Amino acid sequence: MATTPHSHLARSLRLGFLIAAIIGLATGIFAWNQIEGERQIDLDDVNRRAHAVAQQLTVTVKKALTLTDAQANQALRARLEGYSRLIGFAVFRSDGRLVAAGKAVTDFLDHIEPAVKRAALSDKNSIEVVRAQGIPVHILIIPLPDVGGVLVVAHDISYIDVRATDRLIQYGFWILIVTLLVVTLVMGTTWFTYERPLHKLADWMRRLRTENVVEAPPRGLPSALLGSESDRLAATFRAARSTGWRLSQAALHAEQVWTSDRLRAHAVAALGEAQQLIVVSNREPYMHQLRDGKPHVIVPAGGLVTALDPILQACGGVWIAHGSGDADRETADASGHLTVPPGDAHYTLKRVWLTREEEQGYYYGFSNEGLWPLCHLAHERPVFRAEDWECYRQANQRFADAVLEEIGNGLAVVLVQDYQLALVPQMLKSKRPDLRVGIFWHIPWPNSEAFRICPWGADLLAGMLGADLIGFHLQQHCNNFLETVDRVLESRLDWDHFAVELKGSISHVRPFPISVQSWLERKVPAGEELKQQIADLKLQHKLDGQYIAVGVDRIDYTKGLPERFRAIDRFLEKNPRYHGRFTFVELGAPSRTHIRRYREHISELEALADEINWKYQTVDWKPIRFLAAHHDANTVHAFLCMASMCIVSSLHDGMNLVAKEYIAAQTAQEGVLILSEFAGAARELSDALIINPYDTEQFADSIRYGIEMDPVERRRRMERMYRFVEEHNVYRWAASFLTELAATRSQASKPDSLSLFERRSAL
Ligand code: G6P
Repeated sequence: MATTPHSHLARSLRLGFLIAAIIGLATGIFAWNQIEGERQIDLDDVNRRAHAVAQQLTVTVKKALTLTDAQANQALRARLEGYSRLIGFAVFRSDGRLVAAGKAVTDFLDHIEPAVKRAALSDKNSIEVVRAQGIPVHILIIPLPDVGGVLVVAHDISYIDVRATDRLIQYGFWILIVTLLVVTLVMGTTWFTYERPLHKLADWMRRLRTENVVEAPPRGLPSALLGSESDRLAATFRAARSTGWRLSQAALHAEQVWTSDRLRAHAVAALGEAQQLIVVSNREPYMHQLRDGKPHVIVPAGGLVTALDPILQACGGVWIAHGSGDADRETADASGHLTVPPGDAHYTLKRVWLTREEEQGYYYGFSNEGLWPLCHLAHERPVFRAEDWECYRQANQRFADAVLEEIGNGLAVVLVQDYQLALVPQMLKSKRPDLRVGIFWHIPWPNSEAFRICPWGADLLAGMLGADLIGFHLQQHCNNFLETVDRVLESRLDWDHFAVELKGSISHVRPFPISVQSWLERKVPAGEELKQQIADLKLQHKLDGQYIAVGVDRIDYTKGLPERFRAIDRFLEKNPRYHGRFTFVELGAPSRTHIRRYREHISELEALADEINWKYQTVDWKPIRFLAAHHDANTVHAFLCMASMCIVSSLHDGMNLVAKEYIAAQTAQEGVLILSEFAGAARELSDALIINPYDTEQFADSIRYGIEMDPVERRRRMERMYRFVEEHNVYRWAASFLTELAATRSQASKPDSLSLFERRSAL
């Protein structure tokens, strides 16, 4: 925790008060003793005086007691009155009968009589201090046995209490003064001797760490050793930093831009030439659909395919995926193989066939009605059915078997993709512990509390922990994952290295923010061809002269499409000057439409777009063009190029590659990106206009701000993001995943080596 001058002050104060309390206590005890001693001296003085006055009267009293009571009273009365602090005298017979008393004494007879009886019995002088009517009274009782009587002398000693109280106040005052002096002295001394120099030292260390300071450590440290050690520390630190800086500069130059060629070379080195690369996912990169009775190739929408296809094109290998197109069987060979991309073969696609029931339970049911809403905080309740789980297990086994069959007896690195195949890593490792297996989770990982909803959570985790490396987009998802494992499974966690050991096998957990390749590599139209394509699209959708904003999404309730439409509505409501000048084009790819929630979502969106359009539209202008269809890469690219703004408003998203796709399309670096803070991409693209999609006002105002943004600022923001995406491209992502995976130890190849955890504890 950071310390501030305030905390230093509080510490000095505490110390000062502690010492002051000790001194105060000691002087307090001393003062108390003094006061008690003085009180005793005063009492002794009263005793002496009481005896003296009693002695003066004794002869007279003795004589009077030889008379009758009435005569004695008569003889003594005038002599028994007191003066000053002497209240007076009283004379009793030995049996306790009062003979005579001074007037002031009669007020205290109730207190005196019992004492007189006790003294007559013992025949000895006695002294008692009683409190009568609030006044302390000193009573001397002198038995006179030879005449059968008792003489009593009473003094008012309230002056002794008054004097003690005065002394107490005096002492208290001095103790307070001493305390304040001591506190000030201690605080001043500790501040100047320790706290200030240490504070300066801490400040110097912070600057040494963050600002590369060159000045010497502060002087006047409380220990000479501390001073000399700081000097050495600074020297070592500077040397290490300068080496680190030189190395990082060198690495930066070498690493700045990853290309497909570079990844290919890297993969060969990282995997070893004997090993083949296998990617396994539910979604296939190329799907054949019947159109007009003929097979037609489609590249399915979604981040997974966008990211992984360039990797396989660069490295070669086999991609195993579900053959879900209705013309998939007829376009693959008997064992489900075909080379892709069609007409430009770079790698092999092997299709896995699932029955309709399996697809329903595994893909639509468990994966997309259960795990998908479970992992996305989009307020959609997950549904878990036992029969879906059974299908999920079976389908995962089918994929795992397909991978094993593909590998045969060879070696391989297997990259398992996403939440549909969580059990595959463990299924592979149980048969082939020598395989190197990584799994990348493309969607968020929820916190452990949310994950516990899943009835088969422990099985899912155990399945994933078959992998040597588990990747997420964000560190936060890694943290959530480890916490979940901690809560749900009996395993050993190593938070220092982000690793889990389950039944002797170790999985490392790391963040790998995924990315895209550049559009130039994708053979999309460029130059004049692109211009023409854009002109055609503008004509077709009546976009000429418009400020165009675009959204590209699978139609999914996690993408925040209603929130986006509502923000556009609010923007137009607040800014009528943009009526007829601003058009938002949504390229929405229908997705998972066998699930009712997804079908309903499309209808809701169409209704909402209609409602908003109806509010503002004119004969030749509509504010929202909702193009719900599958759009090929060329079309998506053309729209991304023509749009002055791209809007990404996910309610929760692992990364959202559309944000990066848009930036990659901004070769002129003119566009504006509006990006939800709940998309993983927002952690990297801080130059976007970051919005909360639930905050309609802020969202609408950001649209206006984006349109009216100063061109210099707009270019500066986009330039920075463009450079970032160019450098942190998908090749770099794959290279870091493969490097990390290659670095994980293969358990089977080193069976007798100590586990990570044992090694750590042995150190
Ligand atoms: C997300 C998921 C992918 C999935 C993609 C498309 O990006 O993480 O696993 O492939 O959406 O969804 P679909 O269900 O059509 O494959």
